[in-house]
Amino acid sequence: MKAFVALSMCLVLFTCNALVSNALDTITTNQSIQDGESLISAGETFELGFFSRGDPPKRYLGIWYKKITTMTIVWVANRVAPLADASGTLRVTTHGSLVLLDGNGSDTWLSNAPIPVRNPVAQLLDSGNLVVRDAEGSDPNNFLWQSFDYPTDTLQAGMKIGWNRTSGFNRYLKSWKSIDDPSPGNFTFQLDPNGYPQLLLKQGSDIKFRTGPWNGLRFSGTPYLNTNPYYRYEFVLNEEEMYYRYVLLNRSVTSRLTLTTNGIIQRFAWIDRTQGWMLYITSPIDQCDNYASCGAYASCRVDTSPVCRCLKGFVPRFSQELDMLDWSNGCVRRNPLDCEKDIFVKYSWLKLPDTRSSWFNESMNLQECEVVCMKKCSCMAYSNLDIRNGGSGCLLWFSELVDIRGYSNYGQDLYIRMAVSESALLPSHHKKHKLVMGLAVFFGSVFLILVLTIRLLQCKKKKMKLPEAKWDSFESGDNCEKPKEDLELPLFDLFTVARATDNFSTDNKLGEGGFGPVYKGVLRDGQEIAVKMLSRNSRQGLHEFKNEVLYVSKLQHRNLVKLLGCCIEEENLLIYEFMPNGSLDSFLFDPMQRKRLDWSTRFNIIKGIARGLLYLHQDSRLRIIHRDVKASNVLLDYEMNPKISDFGLAKSFTGNETQANTNRVVGTYGYMSPEYALDGVFSTKSDVFSYGVLVLEIVSGKRNRGFHHPDHRHNLLGHAWRLFTEGRSMKLLDKLVENSCSTSEALRSIHIGLLCVQRCPNDRPSMSTVVMMLGSDIELPLPKEPGFFIERNLLQESTSQSQPNEMTMTVLSAR
Ligand SMILES: *[C@@H]1O[C@H](CO)[C@@H](O)[C@H](O)[C@H]1NC(C)=O
Ligand SMILES: *[C@@H]1O[C@H](CO)[C@@H](O)[C@H](O)[C@H]1NC(C)=O
Ligand SMILES: *[C@@H]1O[C@H](CO)[C@@H](O)[C@H](O)[C@H]1NC(C)=O
Ligand SMILES: *[C@@H]1O[C@H](CO)[C@@H](O)[C@H](O)[C@H]1NC(C)=O
Ligand SMILES: *[C@@H]1O[C@H](CO)[C@@H](O)[C@H](O)[C@H]1NC(C)=O
Ligand SMILES: *[C@@H]1O[C@H](CO)[C@@H](O)[C@H](O)[C@H]1NC(C)=O
Repeated sequence: MKAFVALSMCLVLFTCNALVSNALDTITTNQSIQDGESLISAGETFELGFFSRGDPPKRYLGIWYKKITTMTIVWVANRVAPLADASGTLRVTTHGSLVLLDGNGSDTWLSNAPIPVRNPVAQLLDSGNLVVRDAEGSDPNNFLWQSFDYPTDTLQAGMKIGWNRTSGFNRYLKSWKSIDDPSPGNFTFQLDPNGYPQLLLKQGSDIKFRTGPWNGLRFSGTPYLNTNPYYRYEFVLNEEEMYYRYVLLNRSVTSRLTLTTNGIIQRFAWIDRTQGWMLYITSPIDQCDNYASCGAYASCRVDTSPVCRCLKGFVPRFSQELDMLDWSNGCVRRNPLDCEKDIFVKYSWLKLPDTRSSWFNESMNLQECEVVCMKKCSCMAYSNLDIRNGGSGCLLWFSELVDIRGYSNYGQDLYIRMAVSESALLPSHHKKHKLVMGLAVFFGSVFLILVLTIRLLQCKKKKMKLPEAKWDSFESGDNCEKPKEDLELPLFDLFTVARATDNFSTDNKLGEGGFGPVYKGVLRDGQEIAVKMLSRNSRQGLHEFKNEVLYVSKLQHRNLVKLLGCCIEEENLLIYEFMPNGSLDSFLFDPMQRKRLDWSTRFNIIKGIARGLLYLHQDSRLRIIHRDVKASNVLLDYEMNPKISDFGLAKSFTGNETQANTNRVVGTYGYMSPEYALDGVFSTKSDVFSYGVLVLEIVSGKRNRGFHHPDHRHNLLGHAWRLFTEGRSMKLLDKLVENSCSTSEALRSIHIGLLCVQRCPNDRPSMSTVVMMLGSDIELPLPKEPGFFIERNLLQESTSQSQPNEMTMTVLSAR
């Protein structure tokens, strides 16, 4: 049987190759496409044919890019009715339907029969659209049926997501069940027609992400959709239709938007030089993109901590939740509304709230909009519909305002209905009610003083809760200034954490970290957490604990482990999001687990760590040097996305400062740059060095420390360098990924790794350059000799003094 399948596949390939020479893009009712044959669009951009997925393999009819070597399927006809064998045939019926027949001649898939025409033909267009049209019809663009109306998981240029309002026909993306199974999965990306339309990413009926309403240029929550020379983004809303699409302005560009099996929207562009897809936009992009993560009347900002804040004039619905993590109850007005005497307060730089219960009018202006909203007591807010040309149109909200996020240099204005007693929130010239004004000012100032007093008291209270006293009694070993900013981290009580971890039971112990045990736990709401406990007798640890709280609580990035809160009672605890797949080293250096890291996963990890480090070095408010980048400090989430952890050794540096010295050299041998290990000089370039080591480890699947080669005494860096200079870099590649590997990506990763580990810090690229080099196909400079590639003896002598199972070594350098 197997042999037969193999044989028929050979035949398939053979006939397929034979067919290419006189490729067709059209079939008539007299012709058919059998498994093994294909249609190729006129410009040879797309191909329609049969492909296999699953185990045992099933046959599907689909469309993919003809010129692109990594087979990328953009459309599947029979995603719910696969064929068991290679006996399928595609025909156009005389009625103008497309039909897919199995070996016994029964139809497994049928395009819905349109109006009958004299001479129907099926044609694969260069846009990737499979259409049925009348060969004798006068208008070649009048399609009886088109695959663009039945998207699977991919939005191609020119395809619409949205509704025909006359017929009620809805086009939307639906994810594949898994990479190996094109049948419909749980995620959809569709235009929601309620209120003012917006695109929703849903898992079943739960909303995961919302683009926000269209504002004339882009969606309110997609700042990254910028005008560019390659595409135009279109949102159309008229009597007949409502839809979103993007249109290619330059035919030489290949781009697609795909809804992945795990519910992420990814935009890709094809890069010819690297022969690879470049991922350039991901949604949701951060935790603030998660639908309504902060509840009603709260704004989510990734650059603050906690990310959720009540809008001005609002307070948490349940005051005891001030310190909690769960913001789902959101906020309420400090002062209740009164309807007739209310005012509108302007809030700026926002992603507009959910518009599913909104009302809009495209011709009204902002003043008319305010009047209408004022008249209806249930109207909670208004804004312009279109931000172009100073703003036009009117959008009104008739429900609680949820899923608001704040931006620092982007966003829209929203006018929210507030009690008249909140007049203090208005800019002075806006106070319209002249009679009320005097009183308002008076009461306003009294109120302000009150608020200030309360705030002061609150601050005091908050400070007292924090273990400042405890921490201040500890003198840190080095004199670099420490951030004195207030700690704004949710505090957990010990009871909650103890319950979550089953009283810190040994069954829940995940391992032993740098300064104490780590436990797994589950909060009452089902969230999984990892709890790091500081061992009581660790003075060293206390400093690192404090460091970690200060830094991590302020950092928010996809590629950094998220600190959810801390607990400072009898035990010092840090509570993190749980990373189900553990650390990278447990995969990379384990002969069994390593198989699970195929090339695309490894490359994704290489890129993810780079983005996380870039954020630390440059994009975060604090500008941080991690100082202990290594495989065991990279954790993996469900989808094997990397997240950098363990900020115990991290240091903040100010804008102009680029390097610093320390007496206490801490870090991990094998990853430490020469200037840091020998002279205690560290800079962002020491992180770059460690990153380079890590990249070479990921590519090769071997540790730098403890690397042995029969031919020479070099470590991994020296070995990689030697292979590179001999033009044999691919020899470095882990044997296990040879099959799944993109040679250009692997060579590029090795090249970049070697650039990062150059001896002289100034020669090493910055993380922003690394991210750019990974994401594009620009020419790379030649690397110079790496640091530390033959100093094996020196290293082995100094490391042999430390305890074998301690991951982080500390040595005093003799400067
Ligand atoms: C199909 O074949 C029949 C019979 O051979 C012929 O009369 C007819 O014109 C053909 N139709 C097309 C569209 O080629
Ligand atoms: C064709 O019919 C036979 C007999 O009814 C059946 O065993 C076989 O599975 C069918 N093949 C396909 C491809 O449906
Ligand atoms: C919408 O559907 C109606 C009824 O099926 C059809 O007549 C009309 O052409 C469709 N409109 C568009 C723009 O496809
Ligand atoms: C999809 O949803 C169903 C039912 O909610 C669930 O059993 C299944 O595990 C989900 N599948 C995936 C891939 O998430
Ligand atoms: C399209 O893009 C290619 C590559 O970026 C460029 O060389 C070409 O000039 C562009 N064509 C037009 C019409 O803009
Ligand atoms: C929108 O506002 C304009 C001007 O106020 C008005 O003439 C029009 O009827 C309104 N449209 C709707 C649908 O209410």
